Amino acid sequence: MKQMLVTGGAGFIGSNFVHHVIDHTDYHVTVLDALTYAGNKSSIESVLGERAAFVQGDICDAVLVDQLIAETDVVVHFAAESHNDNSLNNPRPFLDTNIVGTFTLIEAARRHGTRFHHISTDEVYGDLELNDPERFTESTPYNPSSPYSATKAGSDLLVRAWTRSFGLQATLSNCSNNYGPFQHIEKFIPRQITNILSGIRPKLYGAGNNVRDWIHADDHSSAVLRIVERGEIGQTYLIGADGEKSNLEVLHIILESMGEPVDAFDFVTDRPGHDMRYAIDSTKLRTALDWAPRYTNFEDGIGATIEWYTEHRTWWENDKKSVEDFYRAQGQ
Ligand code: NAD
Ligand code: DAU
Repeated sequence: MKQMLVTGGAGFIGSNFVHHVIDHTDYHVTVLDALTYAGNKSSIESVLGERAAFVQGDICDAVLVDQLIAETDVVVHFAAESHNDNSLNNPRPFLDTNIVGTFTLIEAARRHGTRFHHISTDEVYGDLELNDPERFTESTPYNPSSPYSATKAGSDLLVRAWTRSFGLQATLSNCSNNYGPFQHIEKFIPRQITNILSGIRPKLYGAGNNVRDWIHADDHSSAVLRIVERGEIGQTYLIGADGEKSNLEVLHIILESMGEPVDAFDFVTDRPGHDMRYAIDSTKLRTALDWAPRYTNFEDGIGATIEWYTEHRTWWENDKKSVEDFYRAQGQ
């Protein structure tokens, strides 16, 4: 049985990916995750056993990483500090995990000649104007805005350099904003859903005109698996599902789906340096690797996500107070 090491597999997208791989392939999966505030082992508990194992550990731990990669056929690297608002408050962990952690993994992967897939974000390209007809492509220049996106850009460049200089067997992908089950409630969509479920008014940054390009986490997973199986070494693939919506539009959909008046929310202090718009052109992935998203109706996907948070209160309820205390302290 082929062995896959998934870093950050107890986080939002990593856990969705682990479920996808178990459902659609024969891989044995080992999850390496430090279980930071963002990791939740219960998200993958149902698959642990014969097909999947869990190792609690830090991707900066070179000895542990070397041992695990020595036994692995392919590494899929999701582990990261992932939240922009946290990176504006305390950037240091972003440098440690996103830069040094990625360095530690690719050093081990090159020593063992192990296939490596690096997960990244469209935020490395900076932002677009609302009326710009262009979308991000694989050749858009890097121009990150926040400490988070700067460290993701740095990690991408390390992987590219290791591929060219040391022959690392790597592919990269940069995806747009994900939604779906198991997402930490600090993030926009689950924060608003769980606010409503907790009797708190949703909070919109600035005027709410910023645009994000939404994709369901299961579509991100199917794209990553396709790249792992058929991607060309050294190539970068952008992942997106043509899901552009303003934050105000998304909030209206959530409020309406949950039976609330569409004006039942508060405008709050904007994020410093807030990127205006992200938009992905995923033509390369669709044509070269014949990939297409399955979740093409955003309202249906949001409906299922609302249902998931409604039915899994114990998964998020303990974090609600500390998350809202953090935001309240900065007027958000
Ligand atoms: P997340 O914050 O939900 O999960 C991150 C996981 O990594 C957690 O389980 C955490 O415990 C683990 N982790 C953090 N530091 C670690 C360390 N030093 N060692 C081992 N494990 C560690 O993040 P997410 O939203 O699932 O994002 C996963 C990846 O996808 C990241 O690389 C992110 O940049 C990328 N990405 C996210 C989105 C999105 O919309 N969320 C979009 C595009 C790309
Ligand atoms: O584009 C991909 C990126 O998407 C990933 O790389 C990041 O890991 C992921 O967190 C996400 O970044 P964003 O900053 O776009 O996501 P977030 O959920 O934090 O915010 C989405 C938008 O909603 C953004 O414009 C800020 C806004 N927002 C956010 C929160 C938490 C609000 O208006 N109110 C809120 O309460």
